[in-house]
Amino acid sequence: MGEIQAVAWADGAVRLLDQTRLPQEERELQITDYRDLAAAIRDLRVRGAPAIGIAAAYGVVLAARSIQTADRETFLARLREATDVLAATRPTAVNLFWALRRMAAVAEAAPDPEAARHALLEEALRIHREDVAANRAMGRHGAALIPDGATVLTHCNTGALATGGYGTALGVVRAAVAAGKRVRVLVDETRPLLQGARLTAWELQREGIPATLMVDGAAGSMMRRGLVACVLVGADRIAANGDVANKIGTYALAVLAREHGLPFYVAAPASSVDLSLASGDGIPIEERRPEEVTHVAGVPVAPAGVDVANPAFDVTPAAYVTAIITERGVARPPYGASLAALCSAEAAGRPAAAG
Ligand code: MRU
Repeated sequence: MGEIQAVAWADGAVRLLDQTRLPQEERELQITDYRDLAAAIRDLRVRGAPAIGIAAAYGVVLAARSIQTADRETFLARLREATDVLAATRPTAVNLFWALRRMAAVAEAAPDPEAARHALLEEALRIHREDVAANRAMGRHGAALIPDGATVLTHCNTGALATGGYGTALGVVRAAVAAGKRVRVLVDETRPLLQGARLTAWELQREGIPATLMVDGAAGSMMRRGLVACVLVGADRIAANGDVANKIGTYALAVLAREHGLPFYVAAPASSVDLSLASGDGIPIEERRPEEVTHVAGVPVAPAGVDVANPAFDVTPAAYVTAIITERGVARPPYGASLAALCSAEAAGRPAAAG
């Protein structure tokens, strides 16, 4: 079975595997207007921090192709407007803003709109390729942390669907399995939008990796019964001090892991590390529509008009994080020093530190 492609560029269009339809239907969307792409990101047709960044980069390519002018300043001004539309989709995943910054720099550096259109496509393809390579490197570094015979508890979806390909936390699981280890994955269903039940369970089934789906509330009991070796999750943004924003429910898992003496690992590319934020307090947390909580698959399950809180992410303080697995090596506490060493601009040019 071929590798899952959440996002791809083909024949002048962005192709998305519509993640709102999975696992019932494998429907491919072909998008040629950057505004439709922005809507697809907002509606979670493409989701997961790295995949959002890649999709947005291709969105800039679509926008550049639609701006019919040879005047450089007009082109750049209109491209900035389109970039703002793409940036306004999801506030927490820093990969979105990281990718848009890379694209803006390429546009600004081009001598004219035609050269910019060409260079922007090259850059988007490069961002995509680099993400796949980062995931594979992350897998190599992280696999060493997973013992043979381990049951790994994960939350949300961090696989090929959430990235350019292969996956971050699920990539680590895949790499451990590829290295010959026996690994079982305990999959949190991940309320409210069920990325675990719908997407992670589907990916693991396709990969032939043993997986057990459970409700989010079962995690503590499974740990207490000795059925979990470690928790392994992804990240939407990691602050300079190692505080980690990830899907709502992650913080509760970290506290439970601490209580039960279990390692809590985060796997994320350097593009998810935001060294401009001193701590997780500065990470914007997306608040989504109440209907995502009051309804399940479109069916109302709560009384009409009930007050709802629907934060899509939470922040896990660095003190709960055993290690952060990146493509450049494994960061350990204190994260201020280890993340700066792995993820600063200067570190980007150096070969990976030992994991
Ligand atoms: O709301 P989503 O589905 O985009 O949230 C995704 C997550 O929280 C993932 O854990 C995170 O983006 C890492 S994906 C490799």
